[in-house]
Amino acid sequence: MAVRGVRGALAKGTLGLVQLPPGRREVEFRQDVERVRRNFGGLRQVTVVNPKGGAGKTVAVLLLAMTFGQKRGGYVLAWDNNETQGTLGMRAQQDFHNRTVRDLLRDLGQFQGAQGRVGDLSQYVRAQGEGMFDVLASDESATAGEMLTAHAFGEIRDVVSRFYKLIFVDTGNNVRAENWQAAIDATDQLVVTMSARNDSAETASRMLDHLEQHGRQRLVRQAVTVVSMPPSRRHVDIPAITRHFAARTRTVLLVPYERFIDSGEPIRYAGLTAASRDAWLKVAAAVSEGL
Ligand SMILES: Nc1ncnc2c1ncn2[C@@H]1O[C@H](COP(=O)(O)OP(=O)(O)O)[C@@H](O)[C@H]1O
Ligand SMILES: [Mg+2]
Repeated sequence: MAVRGVRGALAKGTLGLVQLPPGRREVEFRQDVERVRRNFGGLRQVTVVNPKGGAGKTVAVLLLAMTFGQKRGGYVLAWDNNETQGTLGMRAQQDFHNRTVRDLLRDLGQFQGAQGRVGDLSQYVRAQGEGMFDVLASDESATAGEMLTAHAFGEIRDVVSRFYKLIFVDTGNNVRAENWQAAIDATDQLVVTMSARNDSAETASRMLDHLEQHGRQRLVRQAVTVVSMPPSRRHVDIPAITRHFAARTRTVLLVPYERFIDSGEPIRYAGLTAASRDAWLKVAAAVSEGL
């Protein structure tokens, strides 16, 4: 009996080691990674929105770009399309230059037609090292120049779409800004973020009304909602927020409060807790299903 058992194990290539069935957590982890690695069949744009400041948009753009970049091995861009001074560049890793979208716009001629190689773009985007994605920062000066037009958004998108497979667009707080609307027009998957506070949820809800009234019912219905947890759950009715957005969007996911993210320091993938990484992998997998 015993001998037969060993032979069986050898035949299966386990060398007699008992192989435990992988735990549910591990199975889920692998499935989520597979979803994130899926071939989308073309360029895709994910746009992160909520006209309320402090809703976690910029953090979500970075953590999603990091998660996709890490798991897919690159070809991911995080683009700050804020109409005023965005903070994506500050929360990202610094590079040898501090050029922004404004510099790329000025030098667009270099990329006209089929001109410009991927290496040439590295003068305008900031490499994120182990995060395996690039950041295109917005104008960072306090006296940011004129607003970006819809045409300018389109021109930049044309250029970056030649070099990336997946683009995350961070947005500002003005749904009437031309570049906000242009970003919506180019969106494949909407991500709505909010902090677990009534004002943040209320602003998101009104923005969804606005989008529905402007013919974007499908984007709204397919949206992924992300709620960032507060340091303490007192005085917050998370179930009510969850119910509201679960009825209007495709799915609602909660992400944990993380002190390192709240510090305002540049965010590194290695600096995140396992709980945050897991939660953002779940968000990434949900996003991926809509691409
Ligand atoms: N998961 C989180 N854990 C802890 N703090 C967070 C988290 N998400 C966001 N924050 C805090 O909220 C602030 C605002 O987030 P941010 O992404 O800049 O908002 P928005 O881009 O919508 O204005 C961050 O600087 C950080 O302090
Ligand atoms: Mg922001």
